[in-house]
Amino acid sequence: MNILLLGSGGREHAMACKIAQSPQCSTLFVAPGNAGTAREARCRNAAVDPMDFEALRRFVLEHEVRMVVVGPEAPLVAGVTDFFAQHADLRNVMVIGPGRAGAQLEGSKVFAKRFMQRHGIPTAAYRSFTAAQVEEGVAFLRELKAPYVLKADGLAGGKGVLVVDSLEEAERELRAMLVGGRFGQASACVVVEEFLKGVELSVFVLTDGKHYKILPTAKDYKRVGEGDTGLNTGGMGSVSPVHFADRGFMQKVEERIVAPTVRGLHAEGIKYKGFIFVGLMAVPDAEGVLNPYVIEYNARMGDPETECVFPRIESDVVELFEHVWRGSLQQVPLVISPRAAACVMMVSYGYPGHYETGKAIEGVELVKDCKVFHAGTKEGEDGSLLTAGGRVLCVTAMADAMPMALLNAYQELEKVSWEGCYFRHDIGQDLLKMLI
Ligand code: AMP
Ligand code: GLY
Repeated sequence: MNILLLGSGGREHAMACKIAQSPQCSTLFVAPGNAGTAREARCRNAAVDPMDFEALRRFVLEHEVRMVVVGPEAPLVAGVTDFFAQHADLRNVMVIGPGRAGAQLEGSKVFAKRFMQRHGIPTAAYRSFTAAQVEEGVAFLRELKAPYVLKADGLAGGKGVLVVDSLEEAERELRAMLVGGRFGQASACVVVEEFLKGVELSVFVLTDGKHYKILPTAKDYKRVGEGDTGLNTGGMGSVSPVHFADRGFMQKVEERIVAPTVRGLHAEGIKYKGFIFVGLMAVPDAEGVLNPYVIEYNARMGDPETECVFPRIESDVVELFEHVWRGSLQQVPLVISPRAAACVMMVSYGYPGHYETGKAIEGVELVKDCKVFHAGTKEGEDGSLLTAGGRVLCVTAMADAMPMALLNAYQELEKVSWEGCYFRHDIGQDLLKMLI
């Protein structure tokens, strides 16, 4: 069958590789894709904007697309899945990604917090405030201890969460968000929540709305600088699995978080066919036993976690997606490679601030035993590879154990270069230190 994947990042390149491997896939169109997806066997980039639903409709009908897989959150929150369900000529197209109601788990922090409260899912204590309640919000901040966590309710391009140390700054930021229009409409409502101290990790779930499969755990590295310093980015690297998420911990994740989340969606009549990304904090109790708390939900896979998680999936993902669509996910096994995966993101100098694009990328063809996933790349007129974004490409290595996967990724990425390329040297090192 022909399949359409929406998105253009490293996440989509990693998903594209797995989807195109399926014997069921004839052509995989990626809209709009990047130079990496264009070069994969059985893949073709399609110049369609994932937010232009009428254009998607024309494309799907013209190319006899039977399945649409949604990579990023924006089309989900804007209702691409509902759009397909509402049009008789698209109704039989299998769309992997929740409708607008389910995507609220990501699209509204207030919705997500209330949902967790309703279903007894462990998360930080919180209150939410609108502009009219700004003084109440300030009074609430004064009751809390530093650091202070402020979250814009809506999507704010990954920048809507602030963790600040001083009360004055927290008050100033709360006012800026609520009445100063700091994040526009996204911060018309703000969640103020308790700071959770622990180690973060990402857990991914594929669900048909009733049954679910838990995908491999991963950890991403969001800050631009070594030792988790500097500005937040879209992600500078990731590793999978996360060693401390052992069987006992994952049992708690499943019992306390995954099962009640899927049950809760079903009980509330929210049809959810797609991925749930649960951002977790593993918080040690007085005895040092780790307990999982939800930091956030996303209605999609993570980037760059997918670049480590998807290569570890051995099952046919198209078959899994078909069962997601039919509501029979319990009928197929999810087979995961026991090997470790590590990915290091190579970015443009200056990212996440100002950076230049259009630089010639050298050496990708020299990389061995690793996969180079493209994010911000494009093909020049002569077929050369050029940078086209902040996060440019990532190198994923797999090995029997994490230290070797990291070593291989770092060794091989030395072969790739362009003017002003930058990467973190310490991806995964915090986890390796925990093991010593
Ligand atoms: P989010 O966009 O909700 O994932 O938040 C961005 C980042 O802020 C998270 O990855 C955490 O590092 C941090 N964060 C969010 N909420 C909390 C919290 N309640 N306690 C501690 N850190 C938090
Ligand atoms: N890696 C975090 C995200 O995709 O939101």
